[in-house]
Amino acid sequence: MSVTWKKAAAYAVGLGLVLTPLAACSSGNTPAGGSTGGGSGQLVGVFMPTTQLPRWNRDGDELKKDLTANGYKVSVQFADNKNDTQISQIETAINDNAKVLVIASIDGTTLGPTLEKAAKKGIKVIAYDRLILNTPNVDYYATFDNEKVGTLQGQFIETQLGLKDGKGPFNFEAFAGSPDDNNARFFFKGAYDVLKPYVDSGKLVSVSNKWPKTLDDWKSIGILGWGSDKAQAEMENRLNSFYTGGKKVQVVLSPNDSLALGISKALQNAGYTAGSDFPVLTGQDADQANTVNILKGLQSMTVWKDTRALAQQTSKMVKQILDGTTVDVNNKTDYNNGNKAVPSYLLDPQVVTKDTVQSILVDSGFWTKKDLGLS
Ligand code: BGC
Repeated sequence: MSVTWKKAAAYAVGLGLVLTPLAACSSGNTPAGGSTGGGSGQLVGVFMPTTQLPRWNRDGDELKKDLTANGYKVSVQFADNKNDTQISQIETAINDNAKVLVIASIDGTTLGPTLEKAAKKGIKVIAYDRLILNTPNVDYYATFDNEKVGTLQGQFIETQLGLKDGKGPFNFEAFAGSPDDNNARFFFKGAYDVLKPYVDSGKLVSVSNKWPKTLDDWKSIGILGWGSDKAQAEMENRLNSFYTGGKKVQVVLSPNDSLALGISKALQNAGYTAGSDFPVLTGQDADQANTVNILKGLQSMTVWKDTRALAQQTSKMVKQILDGTTVDVNNKTDYNNGNKAVPSYLLDPQVVTKDTVQSILVDSGFWTKKDLGLS
């Protein structure tokens, strides 16, 4: 371990970034020993936004496992959703001569100057899950098809409510993700395109009137930092202000599970009951608590992105970069970062409902029955 890397480890611990046992084992400030996969111990820096949202812990763990198996030294850093912390973690890795940086950015618009330093040293950059914007110095992007996530949420609502068959009107509330996350617009766009015609025809009624007038206004309903508490507070506000005198919300578009968790709590606190008046509620990520909620009827669906597959694909791309072979991509046009179309590998997201938790999430080993309180 180099001196600066040790400093970074101490810094991360000092900031209290390594709080949970899961985070502690995945924080990986100690480069893994024992090269098994021929990677000759080159350093790969992995940067995740926060340990507070379950999925990033899992991504960090999977990346560390796969990259270590390929013989690289791996340092996984979490930044408590603080952009400055993430930037200094990346700079430390650059000083320590990492060969590849895998970055799930917090604010994808701010990394330009840092990545210029990386490029000068020949360090390659993979944007992980979230695209890094306005810089030529991002080499690849590995992600799920973000717009499709939103499309699947919109189509789920359309089918559940029978909108295509002319059913309605339904009282409808919509939320969007963090305004600083480039993915959030894609998620919202996917859902917006499916649902807008029904809002326009009056079949979906935006009772709070918060449905954005145009797609470009999506940030007006964004929840900064994707916080469950903030989403809960916003849902409580809407319920208290607009759902009085027995009026009930019947459908809520939530872009992901951390928001859905807070929204579901607000609904439960307001007396909505599973199996009777609980609204249709969407999500994304198949987080553990949300999957349990789905089984209990306290969330209707989630869009599952198998983080193991994303980590594996990314590890493969790291190896291809460092071996100097052709790097796997399947989309060279759709993800323009404001500077160039970044060569991307897109994986397919999948809808999970109560009926498919077992066949999709348990049978694939993503969650065990015990994790979900089923045994
Ligand atoms: C990810 C989602 C996640 C959200 C909040 C997005 O960039 O794609 O999977 O739910 O961030 O962490």
